[in-house]
Amino acid sequence: MRDDDHQFAYDEQAVHKLSSKVLISTLVKRIRKNLKLYYGGLDISKAIITGKPWGGKGTSRTFRFKIRAGEKNKEHVIFVKLCPVFPACNMAAMEYETLKLLYAEMPSVRKYCNVARPLDFFPDLNAYAMESVGTKSFKAYLLKKNSLLRCNDSLSELFSLVSGCASWLSGFHEITKSNESVCFDSTLFIDGIKEDFDWCLLRDFKFQNSTLVLLEMTIGRFASFNGKFNMPCAKCHYDFTPAHVFISNDKISVIDILGVENNPIYDDIGYFLASMATVNSIPFYPLFDYQRADRDLCDKFLEVYLSETTYEREVFMLFANIFKLKRLLVWFQAQYTRFNDIIHPFVGKTFANLRLVKIFEESILSTINKISIHL
Ligand SMILES: Nc1ncnc2c1ncn2[C@@H]1O[C@H](COP(=O)(O)OP(=O)(O)OP(=O)(O)O)[C@@H](O)[C@H]1O
Ligand SMILES: [Mg+2]
Repeated sequence: MRDDDHQFAYDEQAVHKLSSKVLISTLVKRIRKNLKLYYGGLDISKAIITGKPWGGKGTSRTFRFKIRAGEKNKEHVIFVKLCPVFPACNMAAMEYETLKLLYAEMPSVRKYCNVARPLDFFPDLNAYAMESVGTKSFKAYLLKKNSLLRCNDSLSELFSLVSGCASWLSGFHEITKSNESVCFDSTLFIDGIKEDFDWCLLRDFKFQNSTLVLLEMTIGRFASFNGKFNMPCAKCHYDFTPAHVFISNDKISVIDILGVENNPIYDDIGYFLASMATVNSIPFYPLFDYQRADRDLCDKFLEVYLSETTYEREVFMLFANIFKLKRLLVWFQAQYTRFNDIIHPFVGKTFANLRLVKIFEESILSTINKISIHL
C-alpha cells in the first residue's frame, strides 16, 4: 500500500486482506505526516512511532500507537479504529462525528466528563484516529472493588464513579437530545427483544418455573402502557458498558460511542444497568457482589441520572427497569453463547446452569419487582 493511498476510495475486500504489519506501517507513515496537526509543539524529526494490533479482525480492527519525541518521559498514545461499512450506516464516520461533537461540548455540560480527542479520519481504510483516554477501565475497577468483603461505607469511590457514569450519560443525552419523543409500543418492544432472543428458551435452563411464569406475566402486561408514555429520545451510545468507561485524571471518559440518532434514552440506561449487574470476566472474581451491583449501584446510577433531568420520577424508573429487563434477557443468551462457542456446548450449558442462571435470575426477579410497583 502506498502512502498516498488514502486518496483512494474504500475497498472492503482489499482492506480485509491487509495484514496487521502492512496496516501498522501505513498508519505510522500517516501519523508521522500529520503529527504537527495532532501535537503542535512536537519535534517531528525526533519522533519514534510504534504500533501494535489491539483487537478485532478483518475490516473491524483497532491499533494502538505510541509516539515518543525526545522529551523526557513524554509519550503520546493514539488509537486507530477500522470499521466495516454497512448499507445502513458507516460506523467509523458516525463514531468520528459523534466524537467531534462531544469533544467540543461535553466539558461545558459536564465538567468532569470527557471523550477521546478525535485526531484524524482515513477514508480509504474507513478508520479514525483518536487520543487514548488511559488504561483504567471502570469494568476492571468494578470487578476488583465491588467485593463481598467490603461494606458499603468503604465504597465511596465506587459509588462516586457510578455517579460519574450516570452524569456522563445524562450529559451525552442532553447534548444530543432530539425534539421528537417516541410513544411506548409494547408490540414493537417485545419484537425487538425476540429479534435477539426468544425468552421461551429460558425453559431449557435451570430457572425456577415461578420466575418464568412471573416474567411472562410481566411482559404480557406491558400492553397496558401502550399509547400512554412518551419516551425522550437522543443519540444512543449503543454499547454503554463499564468496559467502555475509563477513569483518567479524575475525569470519566467514554469510548466506542456510535451515536445512533433519535433513540429512546432508556436503551443506553437499561444497557448499562444490566451490564453492571451481570458483569462477567475471565478470570472470575468469585467475591464480586452481584447483589450490590444489581441494587445499590443501579439505584445510585438512576438517582444521579434523574437528578440531572426534569423527568417524572415514576415514569423514569419504570422505563429504566423495563429496558434493563430487556437487556438481561438478551445478555443471558449472549453470555451463554459466548461460552458455548469458546469452549464446548456441554461445558457451555453446565456453566450457564451453575453460574449464569443464578446471577441473571436474581437480577431478573429484582427488576420485575421494580416494574411491578407500576403495574
Ligand atoms: N481512545 C481510547 N483510549 C483508551 N483505550 C482505547 C481507546 N480506544 C480503544 N481503546 C481500547 O481498545 C479496545 C477496543 O476498542 P473499541 O471498544 O472502540 O473497539 P471495538 O471494536 O468496539 O471492540 P470491543 O468489541 O472489544 O468493544 C477498548 O476496549 C480499549 O481497551
Ligand atoms: Mg467496544
